[in-house]
Amino acid sequence: MTSPPATLVASVLPADFAELGRDVTAIADAGIDRIQWDVMDGVFVPNMTFGPDVIAACRDRVDIGFEAHLMVDDPDPMLARWVEAGCEIVIVHAETCRHLHRTLCAIEDLGAKAGVAINPATPLCAVADVLDRTDLLLVMTVNPGFGGQRYLASMESKIAAARTEIDRRGLPIELEVDGGIGPATIGRAARAGADTFCAGSALFSNSSTMSEQAAALRAAAGEQTGRLVAG
Ligand code: DX5
Repeated sequence: MTSPPATLVASVLPADFAELGRDVTAIADAGIDRIQWDVMDGVFVPNMTFGPDVIAACRDRVDIGFEAHLMVDDPDPMLARWVEAGCEIVIVHAETCRHLHRTLCAIEDLGAKAGVAINPATPLCAVADVLDRTDLLLVMTVNPGFGGQRYLASMESKIAAARTEIDRRGLPIELEVDGGIGPATIGRAARAGADTFCAGSALFSNSSTMSEQAAALRAAAGEQTGRLVAG
């Protein structure tokens, strides 16, 4: 069976926040599949970024999908705001939801796809009982809060276990990785079982164009798994 092509997601964390419209357009022009908005509240992670109004301001600049990665202490009160801002996927952290099943159902009730993220210290079993309510599982390969960190290869066993569980149960879940993803690491994550890859620093590098970086990432992912690689 041919595996699905790799999905490439660009994090806007390294973008020029004074030129976000320009940078999201560059991401779309580079043939990247989706944009990840790294929402940070300075409580769950030691950094702060942007709110739904910034995302909404960029929504009509491009046609590609938006995902909100909510690195916030309590995502429940504002779930609707991210969907209204134009995010088709809303990703919450398992570590921040007192009633994770209820939160994922609430995202689905808003008409968006429900994603759940787990930090490096959080075991896969923390989300095993909500995978049937999940459209996207995000395995963090760095501790969240900043871009440009080193990829944690120790997460590959968790990625592989997630792939095994998703396939065993036949669940239609995207398995995404985020953090330190670049030409030297995306193949490892793909080989472990990821099919969706979020990259920030690697795409906004100064050494080559975003299109060249995106092509290099897709090639490296495809080489490791033999997947048909779109784009
Ligand atoms: C976690 C953020 C980063 C970002 C990508 O704090 O979510 O992982 O998306 O950062 P890079 O690709 O620069 O490691």
